[in-house]
Amino acid sequence: MDKGVCEIFEVGPRDGLQNEAREIPVAEKVALIDVLSRAGFSRIEVASFVSPKWVPQMAGSGEVLAGIKRAEGVRYAALTPNMRGYEDAVAARADEIAIFASASEGFSQKNINASIDEAFERFAPILEEARHVDMPVRGYVSCVIECPYDGAIAPAQVAAVADRLFAMGCYEVSLGDTIGAGTPDTIAKMLLAVRDVVPVGRLAGHFHDTNGRAIDNIDASLSMGVRVFDAAVGGLGGCPFAPGAAGNVATEAVNAHLTALGYETGLDQELIEEAATMARQMRNG
Ligand code: HMG
Ligand code: MG
Repeated sequence: MDKGVCEIFEVGPRDGLQNEAREIPVAEKVALIDVLSRAGFSRIEVASFVSPKWVPQMAGSGEVLAGIKRAEGVRYAALTPNMRGYEDAVAARADEIAIFASASEGFSQKNINASIDEAFERFAPILEEARHVDMPVRGYVSCVIECPYDGAIAPAQVAAVADRLFAMGCYEVSLGDTIGAGTPDTIAKMLLAVRDVVPVGRLAGHFHDTNGRAIDNIDASLSMGVRVFDAAVGGLGGCPFAPGAAGNVATEAVNAHLTALGYETGLDQELIEEAATMARQMRNG
């Protein structure tokens, strides 16, 4: 039954909470992260140094990083769209950062007010600086199957953007089915193209469960060799600039699924369930 190791990258405190209508106090975010820190994750995305005018929900990110009890062996990650965000993330002592690109021009414009090429111009100095201080940088590609503005996205386009992120120094590229449009078949076709340019051991799957297919898409990714999956406790989440992006795949469901399949995740299901309950309560206030 032993199938080896799979890692869940917890993104709840960032992707889960960035889209909530209620203004969530820093103390509640810190309490959630402190529970997650005990659950066995190696990486937790807890912050986003973006414009507070664009994403007001992430405005307290510096205070969140200052308030958490850092657990040994856990890297606390932050999203950074530009040099300003990178500098803020370093000042807040993020352990790693993530840059985020889109496979579609429409989403790139709506999400970060820049074309794909302009986004890469902003990323270049971040990677340069990060290299000097050994700051790990993760790269996201959004809309790997479909874009809410441009429609279906060709696998070759996803591969091209993933290739650019990896070539510029991202240690891992997370492939985002931002609006949950993927099916096992389209996910497999996309991964076939991406695997040609980025080693599969450096890829992660980032599935939103909008259409209830995220677990099936994880299974398709597993059969293609992917072993890292992003998930959010309580299934919270979405992107304010991607209508329909509701719901990251729930960490508790992914962990139960992977464990049942025989993968070792190193996570404590009870603590994850506790965090999931907290996350759902945070939504309701
Ligand atoms: P802009 O308006 O084009 O840029 O925004 P700007 O340079 O003109 O800046 C506008 C204002 O923001 C200025 O303030 C800047 O100082 C400030 P003002 O002069 O008006 O007072 N500003 C900043 N403030 C704080 N931190 C910063 C920063 N940069 C500028 N880093 C910008 C461009 C990229 C800043 C904006 O579009 C933005 O913040 N976008 C973020 C969008 C976002 O966070 N989306 C969600 C994350 S992506 C996602 O969820 C997908 C993912 O989960 C994977 C998947 O599911 O597909 C990762
Ligand atoms: Mg997402």
